[in-house]
Amino acid sequence: MFEQIERVPGDAILGLIEAFKKDTNPQKVDLGVGVYRDAQGNTPVMRAVKEAEALLLNNETTKTYIGSHGAPAYGDVVLPMVFGQGSPVLEAGRASATQSPGGTGALRLAADFIATQLPGKDVWVSDPTWPNHLGIFPAAGLTLHKYPYVDADNRLDFDGMLGALKQIPEGDVVLLHACCHNPTGFDLSQDQWKQVLEVLKERKLLPLVDFAYQGFGEGLDEDAFAPRLLAENLDEVIITSSCSKNFGIYCERTGCLIMVARNAEQMENVRSQVAIVARENYSNPPAHGGAIVSEILHSDELTAIWREELTEMRDRINTLRRDFVEALKPYGLDEKYAHVAEQRGMFSYTGLTPEQVDRLRDEFSIYMVRSGRANVAGFSHENLPYLAKAIAAVND
Ligand code: LMR
Repeated sequence: MFEQIERVPGDAILGLIEAFKKDTNPQKVDLGVGVYRDAQGNTPVMRAVKEAEALLLNNETTKTYIGSHGAPAYGDVVLPMVFGQGSPVLEAGRASATQSPGGTGALRLAADFIATQLPGKDVWVSDPTWPNHLGIFPAAGLTLHKYPYVDADNRLDFDGMLGALKQIPEGDVVLLHACCHNPTGFDLSQDQWKQVLEVLKERKLLPLVDFAYQGFGEGLDEDAFAPRLLAENLDEVIITSSCSKNFGIYCERTGCLIMVARNAEQMENVRSQVAIVARENYSNPPAHGGAIVSEILHSDELTAIWREELTEMRDRINTLRRDFVEALKPYGLDEKYAHVAEQRGMFSYTGLTPEQVDRLRDEFSIYMVRSGRANVAGFSHENLPYLAKAIAAVND
């Protein structure tokens, strides 16, 4: 039977990792997959994580299953990180946390929950969105639609977005990026989020908030503005949170599906269904990443170290954004790429065309997604002059 199976190209983002590894050009630059890089181009283990792991190694007493919702201690720290200490949503017992294998795992749980518990509801994603969104929801049997997000000039198209949201059939699910929009880096202002909230209310739409980059935009609390606003003002919200990125524990796959219901009673009903979905996918989530996060966030000392390290990463990315535009000045391209300094998070929708991206790879060994998305954390003060020169060459 297997003779009928067709070979397909690999994932466009993950494929860049392999292509970059094979490239022997000493000047090569990796702006592909969304992982943080330091000045040396490394993705180091954070100090708080190393210390937490040392504690875990000494204190861990069992490797038994942690249950379909994961470790309660993990949920206990993730919920206040997302909603804020003393949040009315938490006080009312409206939110449930289910530890998941990464933010991607949480998205798949959400997709399966929607498919099985909310039949007939379609999912709406921004155009563009993280390419894997386009795979995950249909894989769960859901129908996907798009709402506009950027205009022809590569700027946030908020009017287009809002206009499209107003046309979505009542009860459908709208996927929103809480912050650090992937792939564009264009985030909504607080005022724009309030306008989105009004449309969600009016159209009785269910928001699914993808919150993969908390702390990479403006700050841990600032980045949580949208999930907090929506959860405090709507009866029902789904949030997929990730600690894989902000704790730098990518390979530990550390995410969380957060279901917000009208009241504690309905939350428990929803929660019971999510346990089934998790069980049918992978039974119990992997424990280690969640254990690291809860070890850190249960310790004031480790939390302080982690916050400092996260601030350093965020500041570095935002500085590199400005320096990138500066580096383009000698080529008269600073205005053309000024938006890179305004965007937030790991990514920038640079506006480079697929053809320009191909040339950057073939002629300069600079790797990024063909949509023109660059991982800004891959910039460094060392490679910026080279990058600027290459971008100028492909703009000629
Ligand atoms: C990315 O968009 O580069 C990251 O979210 C990693 C991934 O899994 O695609």
